[in-house]
Amino acid sequence: MFDSKRRVVVVVGAQWGDEGKGKLVDVLAERADWVVRYQGGANAGHTVHIGDVSFVLHQIPSGILHPGVRCAIGNGVVLDPETLFTEIDELVRDGVDVEGRLYVSDRAHLVLPCHKLVDAESSANKAIGTTGRGIGPAYEDKVGRRGIRVLDLRHPEKLRALVERGAEHADAQLARFGSTKRVDVPATLETLDRLRPRLLALAEDVGRCVHRAREAGASVLLEGAQGSLLDVDHGTYPFVTSSSTTSGGASTGAGIAPTAIDAVLGVVKAYTTRVGAGPLPTEFDEELGERVRRLGNEYGATTGRPRRCGWFDGVVVRYAVRINGLSGLAVTKLDVLDTLDRVAICTGYAVDGEVHDEFPGDLDALDRATPRYEWFEGWRQSTADARRIEDLPAPARRYLDRIESLVNAPIDFVSVGTRRDQIIGLA
Ligand code: IMP
Repeated sequence: MFDSKRRVVVVVGAQWGDEGKGKLVDVLAERADWVVRYQGGANAGHTVHIGDVSFVLHQIPSGILHPGVRCAIGNGVVLDPETLFTEIDELVRDGVDVEGRLYVSDRAHLVLPCHKLVDAESSANKAIGTTGRGIGPAYEDKVGRRGIRVLDLRHPEKLRALVERGAEHADAQLARFGSTKRVDVPATLETLDRLRPRLLALAEDVGRCVHRAREAGASVLLEGAQGSLLDVDHGTYPFVTSSSTTSGGASTGAGIAPTAIDAVLGVVKAYTTRVGAGPLPTEFDEELGERVRRLGNEYGATTGRPRRCGWFDGVVVRYAVRINGLSGLAVTKLDVLDTLDRVAICTGYAVDGEVHDEFPGDLDALDRATPRYEWFEGWRQSTADARRIEDLPAPARRYLDRIESLVNAPIDFVSVGTRRDQIIGLA
């Protein structure tokens, strides 16, 4: 993945999240010097299996599991300091050395209890099916210019006024929702006071660090959270998260120039999933949905919610290839399809009698869309031990070849199981 021409690589999800980026980043991080998370917050959940131990990381890049790799949380992330330290403490308890190699952008905005309260009490957020981690309200405060950044903790004398200003806004929202709950300002100040020394010890100008590392020849992996179809601009708005999940967000969210990015790897499942409400054109019927959910253990790493499942959607992934400028794809969880008699790929949508092969921005059109499928015979044998493309059964290779030609991007990696070594393409 990394060579003299490709030193800064972005990894993005090219569907609705949960594509298996954590595992890919974990494996690629072995060859990286830096791994930087550039957006989202504790709404993400990466499960990484090492031997018999599973790590679920919400905010810390999975590169942390490799000794010597430096990890950073970029300015584009909304950081929940309480859960950050819970995560750090759990890693340390499991024997991971975090000391001196985890940095937090001093420009990152904080997720405070008021954000989680507003997220939980808002019926609009419930209708979207948010993760309840306060992500939307924290980004709203950031864009509304009333957020609190990590660097504000350097000025304790100003904190009370900042917290009170945020609380005033949150309380007005809560009152509008008809909620009787209100923000506890003294408790918030107490929490910030308690966390301040620990958080400031990690605070850095991450953009500058990454820039310098790159100039010195380091390899840098920029890790996205969620997926392209949850991007606030390019996703299925309003059923999206509140950040720029696509590769454009990697530049602003890590604090480096777009021209510093050399390649973008898109991660896709061999089928499609989404959590929460919103369109999923290729969604399975209940029976197949339940079967694939069980085979793929499709339950949210953050909320435990069952994920909705469907066939691979070529319209979605082709769109993701275009908006992210994907230079290659990693197809994950191919093994989940091993027992199916036949598999399908969606090649276009029929809307009002016309076939579309571009993903529409208008959800009304998507509501009326009927997927058009190409069917493939299933391979009905285990792919779990395949380590080279040639090891895969011919029908599985035909399936992957069609994905490549349909979405206009080469497949660089295929993962066939949860373990680190179950990846084709790492040679
Ligand atoms: P929020 O990010 O909590 O505001 O949730 C907004 C939408 O994004 C909801 O549909 C969530 O289910 C979805 N979402 C947020 N984070 C993830 C993730 O890591 N994987 C999949 N979906 C997510």
